[in-house]
Amino acid sequence: MTQDELKKATARAAIDYIAPKLDDHSIVGVGTGSTANFFIDYLAEIKGQFDGTVASSEASAERLKAHDIPVYDLNSVDSILVYVDGADEANPALQLIKGGGAALTREKIVAACSDEFVCIADESKWVPVLGGFPLPVEVIPMARSLVARELVKLGGDPVYRQGVTTDNGNVILDVHNLQITDPLELEAAINNLTGVVTNGLFAQRPADILLLGTAGGVKTFTAK
Ligand code: 5RP
Repeated sequence: MTQDELKKATARAAIDYIAPKLDDHSIVGVGTGSTANFFIDYLAEIKGQFDGTVASSEASAERLKAHDIPVYDLNSVDSILVYVDGADEANPALQLIKGGGAALTREKIVAACSDEFVCIADESKWVPVLGGFPLPVEVIPMARSLVARELVKLGGDPVYRQGVTTDNGNVILDVHNLQITDPLELEAAINNLTGVVTNGLFAQRPADILLLGTAGGVKTFTAK
């Protein structure tokens, strides 16, 4: 199976997982990226079964609207029943690296508001230890060099993602060569640096369930 076929299979599995939970009042949180895009396309097939969505990026909001799926501002909803999103890496504790698509801050906000976080990913994202994928950090533009120097002190090699501005008007530093043995501690340490908006570690709020697309079918993991 191709990587896209695995992504489609996990997106389809997410629809099957959430559909029985939905009713007319349900709000679905929707992530960002190629796997999330497949999920959006399948979500359109059941758009009569829930109230609407909150999107984690302008790109996902546009795709949802193109399917005539309502998209709400997060401030106008009381709660999100379930958030479905991809990941760049996932470990057995269902802690994640996210932000390959530069949407990490809004993704983290939507995840924080959601009763349940369903991660959908192909098997290439499954790792024993996070850090092979460079860790995205969203930074206020004027603090880019300051934050980069501090990230070096934490043991990483930050690289400015050229030509990318986030939906929030900020820049991304991708931090290479981190061996993330304590994701909770590193998430907090990086978020504590002045000028950082947030980083792509989802350890304080990991996924609740991971639907992993593999050659042998979609496997379901809950946090260990
Ligand atoms: C965007 C993300 C995505 O979830 C992550 O990059 C995975 O993307 P894809 O599904 O295209 O592999 O965090 O900021």
